[in-house]
Amino acid sequence: MGSSTKFHHADHVNYSSTLSKEEILEQLLLSYEGLSEGQVNWVCNLSNASSLIWHAYKSLGVDVNWAGFYVTQGSEENTMLLGPFQGKVACQMIQFGKGVCGTAAFTRETQIVPDVNKYPGHIACDGETKSEIVVPIISNDGKTMGVIDIDCLDYKGFDEVDKEFLERLSKLINKSCVFK
Ligand code: SME
Repeated sequence: MGSSTKFHHADHVNYSSTLSKEEILEQLLLSYEGLSEGQVNWVCNLSNASSLIWHAYKSLGVDVNWAGFYVTQGSEENTMLLGPFQGKVACQMIQFGKGVCGTAAFTRETQIVPDVNKYPGHIACDGETKSEIVVPIISNDGKTMGVIDIDCLDYKGFDEVDKEFLERLSKLINKSCVFK
């Protein structure tokens, strides 16, 4: 009784089809802020973040096949380990400077890759992936704590709008998570 009017956790990813790309990505940020309130555990927060990303892009009609995180926590220096994600099994370890993720981690700059076949050193966890965006998560003292990685089955899956919103998400993650 009354359950139809109650807002459930899963309702965060029920994006309306009438919303624009900017509105959906704005909703993603608001949901992340709401869900991470009072929670500093990075596994917990990044798990929900990967679900928010996955469903936001599916709602936008972007055929994402992987959405998740690589983190420096628990790994050797200048290396990242697989973190929470949505999608198929992926490689567990990426060194700084290697692939798209390692390049974003090393340069601390977002990488937009419209065609992964043209990216020297791209690490193909899934041969079906055509394009990718990777956004670094930078601590207040300038260290890379990890990266947000989203893969797409189509070429040119991501643009400057994605970069803008995902960099905002990255800042919210840095603010909300304790990486230890
Ligand atoms: N393609 C990435 C590796 C991670 S998987 O795509 C999940 C890269 O080149 O860094």
